[in-house]
Amino acid sequence: MKKSIKVFAPATVANVVCGYDVLGFAVNQPGDEVIMSLTDGKGITISKITGDDGKLPLNPTKNTVSASVQHYLNHIGKPDLGVEIELHKKMPIGSGLGSSSASTVAGLFAINTLMGNLLTNKELVPFAMKGEELACGYGHADNVAPALMGGFVLIRSYQPLDIISLPFPEEMHAAIVYPEVDVPTKDARQMIRSKVLLKDAVTQWGNVAGLVSGLFMKDYDLIGRSMTDILVEPTRSILIPDFYKLRTIAMKAGAVGFGISGSGPSVFALTKDADTANKITEKLKQHLKNISINSLSFVSEVNKRGPIILD
Ligand code: HSE
Repeated sequence: MKKSIKVFAPATVANVVCGYDVLGFAVNQPGDEVIMSLTDGKGITISKITGDDGKLPLNPTKNTVSASVQHYLNHIGKPDLGVEIELHKKMPIGSGLGSSSASTVAGLFAINTLMGNLLTNKELVPFAMKGEELACGYGHADNVAPALMGGFVLIRSYQPLDIISLPFPEEMHAAIVYPEVDVPTKDARQMIRSKVLLKDAVTQWGNVAGLVSGLFMKDYDLIGRSMTDILVEPTRSILIPDFYKLRTIAMKAGAVGFGISGSGPSVFALTKDADTANKITEKLKQHLKNISINSLSFVSEVNKRGPIILD
């Protein structure tokens, strides 16, 4: 049996505007890397974390990677297995790009591979949700499911868990811009109203159904007009500098739709091709620069593979 492995797991765009906690897709970049080794010792240790500016805990009960790996080991009946983890963060924390999810998924994929693939990637989702619960207080799956399974996914139900892989237009791209302001998911979840009006719910589920139909039918107009969120975006957009100006710029530059990625502050646009996505990221970055905000940008098609073994 192989004793050491290096794994990459991708970032994700959760919610996809109208589908709070139920829709998400994976992208090719950015993402995180985990190097995992089986040891002769007892229990999990985290030997190194890089790229986190000292923000993440080395304590294995508090770190989302080790905590979810521990759940997995308990499940397979090897709770005391010796495991050493190195985590290399290659993406910003608190960015709305599924940062904790990418790390957790890389760790779970690594241990499952080292154990001889006892579970499928889809079966790993509940273990990864434990990591999200630790990171932000609620075990949502709209980052971890696409990060594990690749593609565009719908979480139709949480209890019981029912995850559906959706089709999407092959050439569709995401233009993602991360304005460098900190928005912790935990805070961004607490801001949202917990009760909604029936008339608003009607609008929202119409849009979710419209977006899913648009993906099936490869109908960009339908995808675009369904990318509207009247429940969450009005509150969360306050945390994002010039959010509505950014939307206008992206839509004028040819975006199919635009919104907040996950809990923000990253924003994303869906486009019909890579050129339009590149044009949009340049324009959004320029606008943020004009208002003195640094940003990072990423352009990607929808990632179909999920996590991969690097070594
Ligand atoms: N659905 C989650 C939220 C995603 O919006 O809080 C977090 O990235």
